[in-house]
Amino acid sequence: MREKARTLEEARALRARLDAAGKRVVFTTGCFDILHAGHVRYLAEAQALGDALVVGLNSDASVRALKGAGRPINHEADRAEVMAALESVDGVVVFDGVRSTAVIEALQPHVYAKGGDYTVESLNPEERGALEAAGTEIHILSLVAGKSTTATLAKMGTDGQRKPRIGVLGSGKGSNFDAICRAIERGTLNAEVALVISDVEEAPILAGARSRGIDAVFVDPGDHPNRLADPAQKEIADRLKAAACSIVALAGFMRVIKAPVLQAFPGKVLNIHPSLLPKHKGRDAWVKALEAGDVEAGCTVHTVTAEIDAGEILEQRRVPVLPDDTAESLFARIQEAEHEAYPTALAKVLAAIG
Ligand code: GRF
Repeated sequence: MREKARTLEEARALRARLDAAGKRVVFTTGCFDILHAGHVRYLAEAQALGDALVVGLNSDASVRALKGAGRPINHEADRAEVMAALESVDGVVVFDGVRSTAVIEALQPHVYAKGGDYTVESLNPEERGALEAAGTEIHILSLVAGKSTTATLAKMGTDGQRKPRIGVLGSGKGSNFDAICRAIERGTLNAEVALVISDVEEAPILAGARSRGIDAVFVDPGDHPNRLADPAQKEIADRLKAAACSIVALAGFMRVIKAPVLQAFPGKVLNIHPSLLPKHKGRDAWVKALEAGDVEAGCTVHTVTAEIDAGEILEQRRVPVLPDDTAESLFARIQEAEHEAYPTALAKVLAAIG
């Protein structure tokens, strides 16, 4: 496959190369959420208006603002990859906000293609102003009747109905996050993980999310070694709300979550703790179980309240403490139980929410 421009800078360089050769760059925009033949035909027509086509792809936040919380179906990185694989597309630039004015200003395309029921007059005045300032030629292309993402979803019988969306917060390796994803894949948990947030930039949980094509975000926790600063509390709440999450699962998140998230998701922030609560609250609970000489240990899924490890108990699993157990062997046994308990608890809570 020939090389495609994937950033605004690369698209600008492509434009400069073509311009120098007396050729023309065409620019168009769209969500391109579920690709269909109508898109493919439209894009081929758009490219034919010039010599190369750059697509401004609405970011996930931008699609949500335009089409509602249930969209996009596909993450922006995946949508961009699919677009870039098309023969008619020479560049893909993801843009935030509902208008592509900034891309138009930076790219200065020779031609602008727009689909649908628009006329030049009914184009957004801001975008139209930017196009006129750039001396861009404007073309309105007709869309292929009956072919749209909405029609595709309707045919699938989903009518755009989304599965409940889980936001996961974690600081570490993310084995519980993994277990949640596996339960979704197996069909025992009817949900999707919309977003993973971590306070640790290098946390494997973020890499794991990215490799599954799930939005993965590092939020700077602030200067304190184990508290979460107020701006970070707010940013996390805002991001979970923007991702249209209906439930939040703390999976090894090592800082205390406060009001902004708890108030935004009342009773719907869950945590998993490696002990049989109310026994052994706080850190290294399995070490405490060993030191106390307990004959059994386990894990608890509970709702998160302002008081640490004290919310309503939703699910527990017991495991034996064996005579030759080390902290590591006991923790490994508890984690196995966690991986079964957490998806089960989430499924129950989601079923209750309806
Ligand atoms: C789990 O043991 C959980 O109980 C505790 O943190 C650990 C996270 O492990 N809150 P992982 O990152 O899910 O593997």
